[in-house]
Amino acid sequence: MEPTLIDKPRALNYYCANASEINSKLKYAKIIGTGSSVPKTVLSNSDLEKMVDTSDEWITSRTGIKERRIADENTAASDVAYKAAEKALKVACVSPQNLDAIIVGTVTPDFVFPSTACVLQSLLGAKKAYAFDLMAGCSGFLYTLHVAEGIIKSGGAEKILVIGVDILSKITDFEDRSTCILFGDGAGAAVLTASDKPGILSSILSSDGDDWDLLYVPAGGSRTPIGEEVLKSRDQYIKMKGNDVFKVAVKSMESATINALNKANVSPEDIDLFVPHQANYRILEAVRKRLNFPEEKVFANLDKYGNTSAASVPLALDEAVNKGRIKEGNLVLFAAFGAGFTWGASVVKL
Ligand code: ACO
Repeated sequence: MEPTLIDKPRALNYYCANASEINSKLKYAKIIGTGSSVPKTVLSNSDLEKMVDTSDEWITSRTGIKERRIADENTAASDVAYKAAEKALKVACVSPQNLDAIIVGTVTPDFVFPSTACVLQSLLGAKKAYAFDLMAGCSGFLYTLHVAEGIIKSGGAEKILVIGVDILSKITDFEDRSTCILFGDGAGAAVLTASDKPGILSSILSSDGDDWDLLYVPAGGSRTPIGEEVLKSRDQYIKMKGNDVFKVAVKSMESATINALNKANVSPEDIDLFVPHQANYRILEAVRKRLNFPEEKVFANLDKYGNTSAASVPLALDEAVNKGRIKEGNLVLFAAFGAGFTWGASVVKL
């Protein structure tokens, strides 16, 4: 079957300054543009009431989620990522032809291979860039930021497009009420540049592979390829021990956040907005209380989108920027936790 990619768009041309040589003496990696995109179709809690034994009241009180966006059968990660990238590049005034690298954080690539980053490179016409995917579950965007910062600081690139995108609906079991109420689809993008002005001030990443099987997709990889038995057992879909994940998520996000603040030498009071991974309102609240953040300093949009995995932090970041909740010069704190387990936090001056 022919892969259904979106129509190849005409060349984008947003670069507002002269392309300069990569300058490894520039000290910081700075975010100069953000963008996001979600599919049009809304799946509300009342829709889910008709599909599994659940209720709007249960979902809202246990998670804070009211609705999520679901991709149609012809839409893959690169399609949604392209729309987010287009917006971020436009805001950053950077043309795809001037990108040195594209890094995509995702657990739902278009194909097993090639990478979604390469498919996106083709859609954008970013001929000069090297492109690769990175898998870190819901922490995917923070991992892409960290890697991109390292590349920029080492002089390996000047302009990098980083994306967090997931189309979890394609690996969600809509007969399993413990998971299908949580997830949604989306993409968020950021353009990073080498700069002499402060940008990413600190970035902390951690993993603990011992608990990989608390949140995973059993089949579809080299351990258990998809076959008839798999389809019967529904092992091509996400399996999660939600309660266990919840406890580790709160502890890990708290410790990563404290470490990121210390590394950046800033206190919680210095932070203008905390943009955490949007998994569950109760997780956000638990982390917020432990860190003593006032409610108005925490950005949440999970009521509209659910847990969009790697897209969650950049989707929230872009919405916060567009709503005027983040202005130039503000200090923003990111934190995320996901499958692996992986987690991390980052302090960024916008
Ligand atoms: N509707 C109604 N009842 C439900 C539903 C549902 N959708 N789902 C579970 N229940 C029932 C359970 O069967 C259980 O019933 P029982 O007491 O009769 O056995 C009861 O509700 C309580 O279930 P718990 O699992 O204990 O509910 P909990 O309060 O832990 O909430 C949840 C579950 C929302 C999944 C929570 O544990 C959570 O958010 N965990 C974290 C998930 C997460 O953050 N994942 C992060 C990364 S995702 C990634 O990386 C891709």
